[in-house]
Amino acid sequence: MSRTPVIFGNWKMNMLQKDAEAFLQEVDPYLTGSENAVFGICAPYTDLGVCVQHARHLQIGAENCSQYDHGAYTAEISIPMLTEIGVKYCIIGHSERRTYYSETSAACAEKAKALFAAGIVPILCVGETEAQYDAGQTQTVLKQELQESLQGLTAEQVAQMIIAYEPIWAIGTGKSADPGIAQSCCQLVRQTVQELFTPAAAEAVRIQYGGSVKPANIKEYMACADIDGALIGGASLKADSFKAIIDAVR
Ligand code: 13P
Repeated sequence: MSRTPVIFGNWKMNMLQKDAEAFLQEVDPYLTGSENAVFGICAPYTDLGVCVQHARHLQIGAENCSQYDHGAYTAEISIPMLTEIGVKYCIIGHSERRTYYSETSAACAEKAKALFAAGIVPILCVGETEAQYDAGQTQTVLKQELQESLQGLTAEQVAQMIIAYEPIWAIGTGKSADPGIAQSCCQLVRQTVQELFTPAAAEAVRIQYGGSVKPANIKEYMACADIDGALIGGASLKADSFKAIIDAVR
């Protein structure tokens, strides 16, 4: 079974609305005829309206959501609010949210269930710290994050989602993971999905690598058997580098 490549930019806390609009105006038409792969941008909440308005080919995602539908959760953004704008994807469990804002895997599981109920595809991030990598704990960390973050989902749901393996030591450092390491970790993610769910879910789930991906190295990752795409931070902020990534993938 062949999986459609899926590339997402994660703008993090960057890009004002005028920057988002200029990016979309340049990148979106560039995707005409690129139906063999899915390309998207996960944008700050304040950019989502502008992005959806200008996106014909790009898929638009949020970078986080609340697991609650409504209520007294000051400054949170609910999934119905994202649905109202027309968002189709949402990152959950990014290491920056796990580290700086104490997002737990249990919360990710609740968010994933709520996103599926709303028809939004979750992009679940997992990954180990440098200290865990050095201590040989990568497998244990990934398995635990997956087990807890996918808790309560069905095999059919997992088959439709995206899981991004993002080693924390490779994020924003320029120290991208060796493609062999990235492949073996993504293979472990797939194997864990098989153990927790079904062979069919493992075969279908799309797995991204993230961490200092750029036009110069994207092809090496895309050539790996268990890597179906990439989640890209810094190199997604400039239209030129994102277009170069599009060229390398399509
Ligand atoms: P960089 O591509 O800037 O390393 O960021 C990766 C990332 O965190 C994407 O979610």
